Amino acid sequence: MIWCESKADSIVWMQEDICIDLFALRIMFLGAFYNYGGLIVDIKYMERAIDLAIKGIGKVNPNPLVGAVIVKDDQIIGEGYHEFYGGLHAEQNAIKNLTMDASGAEMYVNLEPCCHQGKQPPCAPAIVASGIKKVYIGSEDPNELVTGKGIAYLREHGVEVVTNVLKKECDEINKVFFHYITTKMPYIVMKFAETLDGKMATHTGASRWITGEVAREYVHYTRNKLMGIMVGIGTVLNDDPLLTCRIDNGRNPIRIVCDTKLFTPLDSQIVTTAKEVKTYIATCSVDENLKNKYREFGIDFLQVDCIAGHIDLVDLMRQLGELGIDSILLEGGGTLNYSALKSGIIKEVHVYIAPKIFGGAGIYSPVGGEGVELPDQAFLFQKPKIMRMGDDILIEYEVKEG
Ligand SMILES: NC(=O)c1ccc[n+]([C@@H]2O[C@H](COP(=O)([O-])OP(=O)(O)OC[C@H]3O[C@@H](n4cnc5c(N)ncnc54)[C@H](OP(=O)(O)O)[C@@H]3O)[C@@H](O)[C@H]2O)c1
Repeated sequence: MIWCESKADSIVWMQEDICIDLFALRIMFLGAFYNYGGLIVDIKYMERAIDLAIKGIGKVNPNPLVGAVIVKDDQIIGEGYHEFYGGLHAEQNAIKNLTMDASGAEMYVNLEPCCHQGKQPPCAPAIVASGIKKVYIGSEDPNELVTGKGIAYLREHGVEVVTNVLKKECDEINKVFFHYITTKMPYIVMKFAETLDGKMATHTGASRWITGEVAREYVHYTRNKLMGIMVGIGTVLNDDPLLTCRIDNGRNPIRIVCDTKLFTPLDSQIVTTAKEVKTYIATCSVDENLKNKYREFGIDFLQVDCIAGHIDLVDLMRQLGELGIDSILLEGGGTLNYSALKSGIIKEVHVYIAPKIFGGAGIYSPVGGEGVELPDQAFLFQKPKIMRMGDDILIEYEVKEG
């Protein structure tokens, strides 16, 4: 069962080939119990922990999304979530919000509690000190500072621990964190909108707009969710985009332009708004006089290795990872999309399909480049999620590795 949240008019869960409306699913599962190898677990509290965790979307990167619920006599007596980067952890917030003594209570938390001192004090000792006697955990934390140690600490101090509760759903909400913490590279989502005949622009290069309002608004939710947004110079020259997040309480992603030779126009919206929205131009150019002109507008540069006359995307991702950027929405044109796929940096693809046909011979394909020679050399994807957005359709796939 794969969870997916959306602003779409239909929220779907996918299991094999079945889509079930979330509302119907909640009715089915509300108060339901799961049998974990003979142990009966009430999953509605873990569902609540997940609901709390996702309130941190767009606010906690590059930290994980975590929610925690404390239950006593089948009543929630405390709950909390990780609200912002550097803020209290979910477990600490849940303990802080307790409405009664937690002795003998149970905690549901979607991620293994930490046991090391970071920006905040460790959670596992706080759980022990609170008197909680049993902890249900969704995902184990792959962070080498934590992994297995939080669970071991709890057990060593007399707290019963049940792991893998709604594990798939818990893993799903933190896939960006898991990728970033284990690879130190950002999780890249390639997004494009296309017509029914697979075009992302007309033969004149015009691409506004392909999809309708609902789909375009959902893109802004994705921009809020991911920490960076990246395009190639081709898209800047053609569309002069702003690449900001235009939803209430949304956060602008950090903008990255791949511009090998430094052709970004000084009067483009990206440049003229760079003092308000953090913006990097990734370039191979070493022309410091030219760069200084951009710096006056607030642009920062990433000096990147050159490969076959273009930016080395792997080197760029390494640098962005070092800057703490855990995730990027790639909203480029077909040229950058192909290079990104070929370099292996893409983890997920979001394809918006509009009920339109542009026609025209093979230009402005969402993925350009030379393409593969044989079908069995294709880039492969898995785990489809399908959402209807007005008359448009969004298909999300994860890249199939190996
Ligand atoms: N429908 C949609 O969802 C959508 C989204 C975006 C764009 N578009 C449309 O796509 C069109 C632009 O397409 P495009 O392909 O020219 O834009 P693009 O992929 O955004 O930019 C391509 C440029 O990026 C630069 N680049 C830097 N490093 C690169 C690398 N490693 N690999 C490849 N390119 C690299 C290249 O120029 P240098 O190497 O010289 O810097 C290249 O020409 C526009 O018409 C736009 O409207 C549509």
